[in-house]
Amino acid sequence: MVQLARMQERVVHKVFTTKEALEGAGVKLHRGFGYFELPLFDPFLLFDDFSSSEPQDYLPGFPLHPHRGIETVTYVLKGDVSHKDSIGNAGTIGPGDVQWMNAGSGIVHEEMPHGAEGLTGFQLWVNLPQKHKMMNPQYQEIHASDIPTVSRDGARVHVIAGLFDETSGPVKDIMASPSYLDIALTPGNTLTVPVQSGDTSFLYIVEGSVVTGDAPYERGTIILHNRMGDTVTVTAREHGARFLFVSGTPLNEPIAWHGPIVMNTDDEIRVALYDLQNGTFIKTSGHM
Ligand code: CO
Repeated sequence: MVQLARMQERVVHKVFTTKEALEGAGVKLHRGFGYFELPLFDPFLLFDDFSSSEPQDYLPGFPLHPHRGIETVTYVLKGDVSHKDSIGNAGTIGPGDVQWMNAGSGIVHEEMPHGAEGLTGFQLWVNLPQKHKMMNPQYQEIHASDIPTVSRDGARVHVIAGLFDETSGPVKDIMASPSYLDIALTPGNTLTVPVQSGDTSFLYIVEGSVVTGDAPYERGTIILHNRMGDTVTVTAREHGARFLFVSGTPLNEPIAWHGPIVMNTDDEIRVALYDLQNGTFIKTSGHM
């Protein structure tokens, strides 16, 4: 009880509505935040919602492209996304599955969404700490059956990464150690999510609408809380709600960002572009 008494509720810092963007070979997606919001979401760089009921919006896909210096977490709720990369990984994720990729020193991959009846999916970019930017790339698929669910007080929480109550998520190797939760609330239900003081935390509404910090928010909204305080309380409105809750410790390092490559200095970007032109971008063995 003593500990509870010391808990401090966070206040809403800033609210973003997703904006339409064209990426890959012409995928029409909705960006929650990206380059222009730096460094508000540190250690997170970008959040895209590529959900659509129109196959022509996502079928063009993301053909072969490079990444360096970041990790990406792709979460699919409807339809599927197949992946193939330069370290020899290939696979397809479907509803409830997660794909985690650490680009490290360099990876070339393709990500192709499918689904005749629409797609629901999200991609989060997590920055790699300076000392890990040039590590060996890694790739992992986590299936829905391996993602634990915590049910409490009318709330259902899928723990993808990090900790909720005593349950930890299966995506453990992200260098910035973020927490990634998929939370569903029944109508009128309230959930208080603990978060470490000083960490960045945001939520993204996937379905329905919620109240947090006394104001109502709808689907497609990113709500960034401030970093002071250690709880975020969310109430679902009349039709219930589903949202992603993401938190992580800021890296507080300089960022040099060029498209799919995110480093710390402009010199490192120049080296990456030189490597791309000269066939030296991929530092590890493997083939497509
Ligand atoms: Co990519």
